[in-house]
Amino acid sequence: MSKMEVKTSLLDNMIGVGDMVLLEPLSEDSFIENLKKRFDHNEIYTYIGSVVISMNPYRSLPIYTPDKVEEYRNRNFYELSPHIYALADEAYRSLRDQDKDQCILITGESGAGKTEASKLVMSYVAAVCGKGQEVNKVKEQLLQSNPVLEAFGNAKTVRNDNSSRFGKYMDIEFDFKGDPLGGVISNYLLEKSRVVKQPRGERNFHIFYQLLSGASEDTLRKLKLERDFSKYNYLSLDSAAVNGLDDSANFRTVRNAMQIVGFMEDEVQSVLELVAAVLKLGNIEFKPESRVNGLDESRVKDKNDLKEMCELLGIEQGVLERAFSFRTVEAKQEKVSTTLNVAQAYYARDALAKNLYSRLFSWLVNRINESIKAQTKTRKKVMGVLDIYGFEIFEDNSFEQFIINYCNEKLQQIFIELTLREEQEEYIREGIEWTHIEYFNNAVICDLIENNTNGILAMLDEECLRPGTVTDDTFLDKLNTVCAEHPHFESRLSKSSKFLNDHSLPHCCFRIQHYAGKVLYRVEGFMDKNNDLLYRDLSQAMWKANHSLMKVLFPEGNPSKVNLKRPPTAGFQFRASVGTLMRNLQTKNPNYIRCIKPNDKKAAHIFTEALVCHQVRYLGLMENVRVRRAGYAFRQPYEPCLERYKMLCKQTWPHWRGPARDGVEVLLKDLQIPVEEYSYGRSKIFIRNPRTLFTLEEVRKQRLQDLATLIQKIYRGWKCRTHFLLMKKSQVTVAAWYRRYAQQKRYQQVKSSAIVVQSFIRGWRARKILRELKYQKRCKEAVTTIAAFWHGTQVRREYRKFFRANAGRKIYEFTMQRIMQKYFLDLKKTMPSMSPIDKSWPARPYLFLEDTHEELRRIFHLWRCKKYRSQFTEQKKAIFEEKLEASEMFKDRKALYPSSVSQPFKGDYLEISKNPKYQKLGSLVEEKIILADTVNKVNRANGKGAPRLFLLTKNSLILADQKSGQIKSNVPLDDIGSVSVSSQSDGFFALRLKEGSAAAAKGDFLLSSERLIEIVTKLHRTAASTAGRSQIRVDITDEFLVQFKQDKVCVKFVPGGPRNGNSATCKRKNNRLLEVSVPSP
Ligand SMILES: Nc1ncnc2c1ncn2[C@@H]1O[C@H](COP(=O)(O)OP(=O)(O)OP(=O)(O)O)[C@@H](O)[C@H]1O
Ligand SMILES: [Mg+2]
Repeated sequence: MSKMEVKTSLLDNMIGVGDMVLLEPLSEDSFIENLKKRFDHNEIYTYIGSVVISMNPYRSLPIYTPDKVEEYRNRNFYELSPHIYALADEAYRSLRDQDKDQCILITGESGAGKTEASKLVMSYVAAVCGKGQEVNKVKEQLLQSNPVLEAFGNAKTVRNDNSSRFGKYMDIEFDFKGDPLGGVISNYLLEKSRVVKQPRGERNFHIFYQLLSGASEDTLRKLKLERDFSKYNYLSLDSAAVNGLDDSANFRTVRNAMQIVGFMEDEVQSVLELVAAVLKLGNIEFKPESRVNGLDESRVKDKNDLKEMCELLGIEQGVLERAFSFRTVEAKQEKVSTTLNVAQAYYARDALAKNLYSRLFSWLVNRINESIKAQTKTRKKVMGVLDIYGFEIFEDNSFEQFIINYCNEKLQQIFIELTLREEQEEYIREGIEWTHIEYFNNAVICDLIENNTNGILAMLDEECLRPGTVTDDTFLDKLNTVCAEHPHFESRLSKSSKFLNDHSLPHCCFRIQHYAGKVLYRVEGFMDKNNDLLYRDLSQAMWKANHSLMKVLFPEGNPSKVNLKRPPTAGFQFRASVGTLMRNLQTKNPNYIRCIKPNDKKAAHIFTEALVCHQVRYLGLMENVRVRRAGYAFRQPYEPCLERYKMLCKQTWPHWRGPARDGVEVLLKDLQIPVEEYSYGRSKIFIRNPRTLFTLEEVRKQRLQDLATLIQKIYRGWKCRTHFLLMKKSQVTVAAWYRRYAQQKRYQQVKSSAIVVQSFIRGWRARKILRELKYQKRCKEAVTTIAAFWHGTQVRREYRKFFRANAGRKIYEFTMQRIMQKYFLDLKKTMPSMSPIDKSWPARPYLFLEDTHEELRRIFHLWRCKKYRSQFTEQKKAIFEEKLEASEMFKDRKALYPSSVSQPFKGDYLEISKNPKYQKLGSLVEEKIILADTVNKVNRANGKGAPRLFLLTKNSLILADQKSGQIKSNVPLDDIGSVSVSSQSDGFFALRLKEGSAAAAKGDFLLSSERLIEIVTKLHRTAASTAGRSQIRVDITDEFLVQFKQDKVCVKFVPGGPRNGNSATCKRKNNRLLEVSVPSP
């Protein structure tokens, strides 16, 4: 083997055993157990030699991927775990490479997965065969024929949601290269009774539901249909919708498939029209109408459906209507017309519907064949795929089951024949001695059914053709006489008395002991179904239809071709086609797929042992294994055998140089396997017992483990060594690097230490030199200084005679003079104004002139003031003197003072001499009036004020009435001792009279005036101006005593709120206290 290729075997990783032939011990129980074990592990395929058993998983398994296809492609059958692809590959390769026509026979009961298996085979072959545009088109057409046929030929049954209701055999044709050229499909016995009636829980054919759910509104309108299933009698309602089936999507798939297969648009339309017509036909109902002869004649009840159906098919309504009421019987050139009663009319209607549909189906198959027909005339290789209904045992078995089971019986026969033949041929080919194998041959049952003279089918035909009254019962009678002796026929009335008391066998039935079990058939309906009668009037009516398909479907309706001979019966036709099929199969190399249904619930993961056991029995699988094991259980070509076991012997391991056969011989001898356990064929080694094989396998497993240990040991040693070497190498590298690093580090340390030492020494040396240099420099400086002084002294001594002794003083004085001169001149230029209030003064130029400068300023100011004063007149001087006196007396002592500063002291405010009102008063006062004003005299009793005229002369003070001018009091100034005022802003003042004076008798005066300052000042001044007169004191205090007649009253000034405007108010508090409240400013 040049290329590294992993050789595998079926024997690797087996779950249970992959090939039943190797089952040890072989019994029905172990067989089922093995199937179950594998099924539980999702291994749905198991072999019996080259036969594939397929369990229906009822769920999609990931074992059909393109990867799987690649895996199984071009591999030997036993090389990989069992798979349908292995069988397909084997079949395809021997067809392509060995030029052997193949057939793939798929059997099993309804729902076991036959159709799926056939599709898997087809898709595998399509995937592995040649490619190219033309080839791909052919493949696509072949594959797409499936959905079309399934839509029209499959239906939901209680056993299978997609049950094929027809048998199908498809020949796929290939050219010499193995590229597909085309195909031929044969169909067998469509279950047409389903069109008019379906058992409970089942549906009519898919196409009806698909059309109603999937067609567009427009299409439905054209077909005169309504979407509602319940509108149609032929569609059973209870199971119209099927879980997991999308009718409308499938309709699109079917339309698409038809297009791919090559149906023209108008053909599709015609087909759908026929489907619609069948539905309409089911809705036609009949009613009885009495006739004169006393018989009932049927009439169409509601003609609407009839009308629409006729429109759809282009039939004349009258013709069809008549065909439902009358029947023409033609005998010996005579035409007799009889009426149909209602029951007969219904029978006719249903017969028409069934015929219409089954003929449509056959037409479809032919039409597809036309499309997929191989285009070349060259010799072709053929692969046939047979997907035929399996053996059926119902509670009520009728003609259909009889026919189906007959077919299965035939298939079983050829299965036995071919398996045995193949086995035999292999022994001969390999030169092994042939040992006879016992097995059950079912040819005897086939004979019971199909024998030309006394077979059941022949007798049925005979009975159908026999003139006179023939019924199902007469047929049974006939069977009872003819077949009574047959070992596989059982009937209550047969001559053989052993069934007389068998109550499980009713009277109107017969029982056949098929190879797969006993089946009880009810004879009722056998005749009818075999006859498959369609009244000639109906077929003629159909032929007349103006519709492209109808003429083709009902050729016997053509009146010009009236054939009085009865058409062949259904049984006859079927027997003939089965015969053809068998002959066809016998020429081919068979490949078997036996499908098994694991449970009745269509459910995944459930394995019902009883059910499987039954199928295993009737499929004869155990027998199959026995036949296969009868001689040698296991056989294998020498090369793979040697390849697989060569490690068990020293001579053959690891290489055997020489023929493989010799190697195997050496090997077996070395292993000491008994000679009777094996035989050498020409190319294969044959092993008699599976146990031997398993022993070999066991030893091989052990040896593999040892070898694995050896490999492991060597590998581990190698691994450790390489690891060690790597570690060592690494260690050296690490050490080298580390040493380098350490050296580097030490060098750097030494280097830096050297630098430190060096720098210390250098520093010390430098400092020493620096010290020396500094000393030298100082010496140099000292020398220079000494020299300078010395030279200075020398020079001064020499030059002293050239200088005047006091030149410096003179220069100083001169400079000072110049400075002073300039100062005064500048001052003159910048003199301030003469106004005494001008505070400005030029800035001082030199600091040393500070005192002089300030003194000059003071002098200048005094001088300026003097100048200013000298301008005053005498009168003005007096006024200023008065003001000055007021200032001296009151400034900062009485709050009223500041307001008086700006007021000129006018003196005479009343102008008495001019005022005629006071003429008298004026004449009374002789002296010059210094001051005249109105004041308020405070009433002693209540503190209220009364206005008085206040006149001051040089010698006295006069108070007069304001209105009359009459003098109230005249007080000489000498009598006034003092004046008391408050410190606040009020205008109250008390005139205190000297005790013992004449005026004092009346008591002191308490007056108030706004011009208090002027009054008091003038009073004080007047008193002072006269020589020899005592001064009038001015007391400023906030609390003073006033003498009122006898009492002394205290006048107290209190600050008060700003009440009654701004003026102070006086109040008598008690007879000792007079309170003046002064508003705060
Ligand atoms: N290999 C498979 N993988 C997944 N599901 C499968 C497989 N085989 C069969 N089935 C399921 O089982 C159902 C029935 O299979 P199928 O229609 O092939 O049965 P059949 O043997 O043809 O029955 P009938 O005789 O009624 O036609 C399929 O619709 C599918 O759901
Ligand atoms: Mg099927």
